[in-house]
Amino acid sequence: MTPQHNVTPATDWWRDAVIYQVYPRSFADGNGDGMGDLAGIRSRLPYLRDLGVDAVWLSPFYASPQADAGYDVADYRSIDPMFGTLPDAEAVIREAHRLDLRIIVDLVPNHCSDQHEWFRRGLAEGPGSTARERFHFRKGRGENGEEPPNDWESLFGGPAWTRVPDGEWYLHLFAPEQPDFNWEHPAVQDEFRSILRFWLDLGVDGFRVDVAHGLVKAPGLPDMGHGEQLKLLGNQVLPFFDQDGVHDIYRSWRAVLDEYSGDRIAVAEAWTPTAERTALYLRSDELHQAFNFHYLNTGWDAAALREAIDSSLDAMRPVAAPTTWVLSNHDVVRHRTRLGGGLDRARAATLLMLALPGSAYLYQGEELGLPEVTDLPDEVRQDPSFFRDTGQDGLRDGCRVPIPWSGQQAPYGFGDGGTWLPQPADWAGLSVQAQTGDPGSTLELYRAALALRRTHPGLGAGETVEWLAAPEGVLAFRRPGGLVCTVNVTEAPARLPAPGRLLLSSRQLDASQDDFVLPADTALWWEE
Ligand code: NOJ
Repeated sequence: MTPQHNVTPATDWWRDAVIYQVYPRSFADGNGDGMGDLAGIRSRLPYLRDLGVDAVWLSPFYASPQADAGYDVADYRSIDPMFGTLPDAEAVIREAHRLDLRIIVDLVPNHCSDQHEWFRRGLAEGPGSTARERFHFRKGRGENGEEPPNDWESLFGGPAWTRVPDGEWYLHLFAPEQPDFNWEHPAVQDEFRSILRFWLDLGVDGFRVDVAHGLVKAPGLPDMGHGEQLKLLGNQVLPFFDQDGVHDIYRSWRAVLDEYSGDRIAVAEAWTPTAERTALYLRSDELHQAFNFHYLNTGWDAAALREAIDSSLDAMRPVAAPTTWVLSNHDVVRHRTRLGGGLDRARAATLLMLALPGSAYLYQGEELGLPEVTDLPDEVRQDPSFFRDTGQDGLRDGCRVPIPWSGQQAPYGFGDGGTWLPQPADWAGLSVQAQTGDPGSTLELYRAALALRRTHPGLGAGETVEWLAAPEGVLAFRRPGGLVCTVNVTEAPARLPAPGRLLLSSRQLDASQDDFVLPADTALWWEE
């Protein structure tokens, strides 16, 4: 069964697709319980169609105790009641396809929840049981096994091992509630191929693969060595990341994806030491895309941006995979805040990104110019790493605050109830309703940019950018079809000749003269 509804058939649709990340908790609340859900998502799909994106990636909505906001999955084939039901998920997929939007779902194969049936069975059946072989259970070190089996640290802080009452330890690279699967075990491999098929049969267009670089661990689970400071967004060489064995897994998944019609894809969340190592995940018999975290981590600096753009494109060329670009997601500080230059800089960064060859990922709310919420009180925080002493900064809640749709006060049309994280009191002017129809708004800028990407396919096409001469600190490049993008990455205005007719500007300005002044933190799209 391969329902594709009426989504436009297109091969290679993903090569230049703009993919919008929905974080289900915080997108739209259909039943008024303060928590976003599938009914809310469905009701807002026309908004996403009108925004002009090609596909929607949904962060996890599976049955989960929510120890890590759904990245701790207890049942990969059912929906958590707080998000709805399986028919609700099917309705989202069907409705998206009717609107010509594709749906990508999150797949979490590195670990499950400690409430997953397999793990519970492993705990109950005890040391030596076959149920434990599906995870990494080990005896501890020290005289009485009181030390963890090795020195690995959790990315959320503290040891990556937890001891169970019978004395054995189990591995969890993230929270203790997220035991790592043993991917050497054939049952694990079979189960995930079956899960892929389950969702492909329901009609999804692809998967975002969580911790794609982590599934295979170095043989013997050797110590990582002392003094490592782990970061979720790091790129160290480590015995539990980017092991060569992961590629066999992705080859077997690609075979499954290719059995289905409709150009189904997988995008890797893969942290590796180099872009060349990331490209290995994108060989023609493996996955389709990988997030470009090098670009996300590049500051607002012309030389650094140019280097990141060129090196990203160079790294993907040998495997003929599209480069992807991303500025914000549910794990990082929103780019309006992170880049340090406020809304002007954020808007310029977006126009730069959307003029680059390849596929771009947007995170819900960036089209509204939302800032990071930096003053959440400790008592409302939910990020598990906030409650542990080292590791990732623990401040991921600030980008996960429910987004404003309409109205003058919280919950700003998010739903009829409250919101699981409090919204700032000054977000009324940032709502979809407030920005719609205002030509100077960030929302209308995103709509205009995405509309131009459709009418000028050269914007996302190709594998290179042609750099043009420009004053220091200004990036200028030509794209196929005679489109030129100029970006002032300095803090001072720059004077340059107009390359043609102005198509779009990240801020309002007068560029009618031949020679014009490009303000700081501004990006322009031109047609020669
Ligand atoms: C990456 C996800 O994006 C993040 O939110 C999650 O905490 C970890 N993987 C663990 O699943």
